[in-house]
Amino acid sequence: MADKIKSAYQTSKNIYDDVLTQGSFLSRLYIRLFWSGTDDNEVARKVLAYIPDDFDGALLDVPVGTAVFTWQKWAQLKKARITCLDYSEDMLAQARERLKDYAHVACIQGDVGSLPMPDASYDVVMSMNGFHAFPDKEKAFQETWRVLKPGGAFVACFYIKGKSRMTDWLVRRVLSKKGWFTPPFHTEDELRRMLGKMYREVDMHTDGSMVYFRCRK
Ligand SMILES: C[S@@+](CC[C@H](N)C(=O)[O-])C[C@H]1O[C@@H](n2cnc3c(N)ncnc32)[C@H](O)[C@@H]1O
Repeated sequence: MADKIKSAYQTSKNIYDDVLTQGSFLSRLYIRLFWSGTDDNEVARKVLAYIPDDFDGALLDVPVGTAVFTWQKWAQLKKARITCLDYSEDMLAQARERLKDYAHVACIQGDVGSLPMPDASYDVVMSMNGFHAFPDKEKAFQETWRVLKPGGAFVACFYIKGKSRMTDWLVRRVLSKKGWFTPPFHTEDELRRMLGKMYREVDMHTDGSMVYFRCRK
């Protein structure tokens, strides 16, 4: 499974940013046809808006991917201490390039299911478009919770099933087969119940087949 994920993101590393940011006509068509027009740029903006522009604590961005959505905000948060982690060296290489001039940001390779940080080390854990890719979601939820300080914020967005038959078909028949996504996936209700058990102050929204939220440990 791990090799499948690495090879999937190695194959897509050169088109990833274009597809997610809808940089070309074909990307816009793909999003319109298969994702009911949900704009990842807009979802990313909403997720990033949960983090104040004067944030000065410790933040973990997992998975950072190429940092296409996050690098500009991380660059501005000069008083923060930011760790960016991803499993794929190919994706991480692009994040490293984008963030190389910022000493307050570190990029490291790792597995969200076994984070190399002590308990309660972050004020914010951000997970953008990650949980639909993570192979062991239970461990990923446990580990992101473990490294958060009490009162810290868990902020995330990812695909949920049950919102669009077309998107669910694409995820099941294409994206999961290639390794960009890894089942099982949550429905909105399942996720709400789970977050409700682990966290308080759950502020959760959906946009098409994407969910985004902030909650507190
Ligand atoms: C869809 S990309 C999202 C990247 C970025 N956050 C974004 O929004 O563009 C999913 C990322 O999850 C990473 N990933 C998959 N499994 C992982 C794991 N077990 N630990 C850490 N990262 C993982 C992949 O390498 C890939 O870069």
